[in-house]
This record gives sequence, structure tokens and C-alpha cells, in this order.
Amino acid sequence: MKGIILAGGKGTRLYPMTKVISKQLLPIYDKPMIYYPLSVLMLAGIKEILLITSPSDIHQYRALLGTGEELGISIEYVIQQYPNGIAESFILGEDFIGNESVCLILGDNIFFGQDLVRELQKSSEIIEGAKIFGYPVKDPSSFGVVEFDSEYNVVSIEEKPLIPKSNYAVPGLYFYDNEVIKIAKSVRKSERGELEITSINNRYLELGKLVVVPLSRGIAWLDTGTPEGMLKAAEYVETIQSRQGLYIACLEEIAWRKKFISDELFRNLGQKLAMTDYGKYILTLLNES
Ligand code: TTP
Repeated sequence: MKGIILAGGKGTRLYPMTKVISKQLLPIYDKPMIYYPLSVLMLAGIKEILLITSPSDIHQYRALLGTGEELGISIEYVIQQYPNGIAESFILGEDFIGNESVCLILGDNIFFGQDLVRELQKSSEIIEGAKIFGYPVKDPSSFGVVEFDSEYNVVSIEEKPLIPKSNYAVPGLYFYDNEVIKIAKSVRKSERGELEITSINNRYLELGKLVVVPLSRGIAWLDTGTPEGMLKAAEYVETIQSRQGLYIACLEEIAWRKKFISDELFRNLGQKLAMTDYGKYILTLLNES
């Protein structure tokens, strides 16, 4: 399975912060926002990753993440000329995806929690159809909203409905088989002028090939698209890290635990950052092991 991170967009809700810098390069507590979605793909065991972003930001992402080699993964880059919508990812990523299935994660979504890794590993084995998630939120009207029947079969998915039919929002993490490329190409722009991911999900629903898994209460899903969202996410990360002494989205740690990199490479990465708590954490992990 291949992985795509979509990290373009306008970021207008974060102006003036994002007037000259891409939203996903802004920090969430102690690391760039993009680390969080990248950590999710790595936890799913996905090692071939495509990062899609805008023409003005691509150089900074390259400077930050490079080829991925240091983490034992491969990262490629493709430009989205204009924020035409999330579903455009599969058109821009067609060559990269090739004949494989694909996981898409939005660059401003943070996931963390107990059952997450198990759920991700299960989802990355998908060979047919689509798998997305449902997450209860207080105000779902700014998301895709999924309606279930009493047996958790999906009845409908609506994009940003004025009157939501449930409080289950669809988070920015999606697993699809290879058909998604063809489906994305057939999608028409919505009234707001975007190729909607909800249109793709509805197509899979019509084909009877959509699974929506309600995420368990033990999993946190945080959206960092607004100043409040960023602050709350930063507080969450700080609280967990300082309380447990374990890091959220330490990419080097995940690469090491997944055996993408050796002890020696891991030590080198830690030493480069030894002046920070982040680097000290890496070196402590090695000493403890
Ligand atoms: P949004 O938060 O919906 O949009 P945005 O990032 O442009 O922000 P705002 O609403 O404040 O203007 O996007 C969700 C994620 O998807 C975010 O990480 C940006 C990304 N995205 C793209 O990269 N390209 C696109 O065409 C769209 C619609 C979103």
C-alpha cells in the first residue's frame, strides 16, 4: 500500500499565520504539524509516501523531510497548482500509486490513541473497496457527516451539511483500492468548486464497497485548521508527552521501532538534536533498550 499526505490548501482560517507559510509547517507544540500525519502512515507500516503541496511550499517540505532515507522510507513530492479539492490527490498521485491500494491522510489531521496502530495495520491490508472512519464530534457541520442505521451500515455521507443527520464526522484518513484513481477522474466539481472526497466515498457507497469504522473512544482525532484547534492540539501533545514521558509523532522513534532504521542511524539522528528534549528523548530510548 502507498501513502499520500495532502499538505497544500489555502489555510485561510489561520491568516495571518499562513500568509507566507504553509499551514502544515507550523508547529504543534514541539514539532511541525506535518510530522503527525506522517507518523500515522509510518505506524500503518507504509514506507512509500507522496507529499502533495502547493508550488510555493514544496521546497520547504523537501528541505524538512528530504527523500525520507534518514527514516528508512521514501518520500516523493508532487505539486498541486491550486487547491482544487481533496479528491484531486488521486489524479495527481496516479503515477505514484501505480497498481497499488492507497491511504490518504490530510496534512492537518492528528490521530493518537490506544487502538490506533492495530486499526491502521488492519486497514492497510485492504485489497478491495474503501475504508473510512466515523468520529463523534459536537459540531459535525463543518465536516463530511456519515449517517448509520442501527447495525452500523452506512446510509449516507454528506459534505458539510447544514443539518447533520448524525454527529459522526469523517476524519481525514482514508483507505482505498486502486479503483480510486478511476473514480476520482469521474468526479465533478461541487458547488463550491472542489473535487470532493465525499463524492468518492459516495461512489464507493453506491457500489456497495464502502466500510465506515467508528473510531473507538480511546483514539483522539484533532483538527488543527484553526488557531483554537492548534492550541488545543499543542496542549494535548504537551500533556501526554510530559505525563507519560513518551512522545507523540517522534518520526525517528517510529522508524526505529518499526526497524526501518538501525540502532546506529537512530543514535546519529538523536545526536544531531541532542541540544533539545526531542533529541535527548531519542538517546534515552537507545540507552534504555
Ligand atoms: P481545509 O482545512 O479544508 O482547507 P485549507 O487548508 O485550505 O484551510 P482553510 O479552510 O482555512 O482555507 O483542508 C484540509 C486539508 O487538506 C489541509 O491539510 C489542506 C489540504 N488541502 C489541499 O492540500 N488541497 C486542497 O485542494 C484542499 C481542499 C485541501
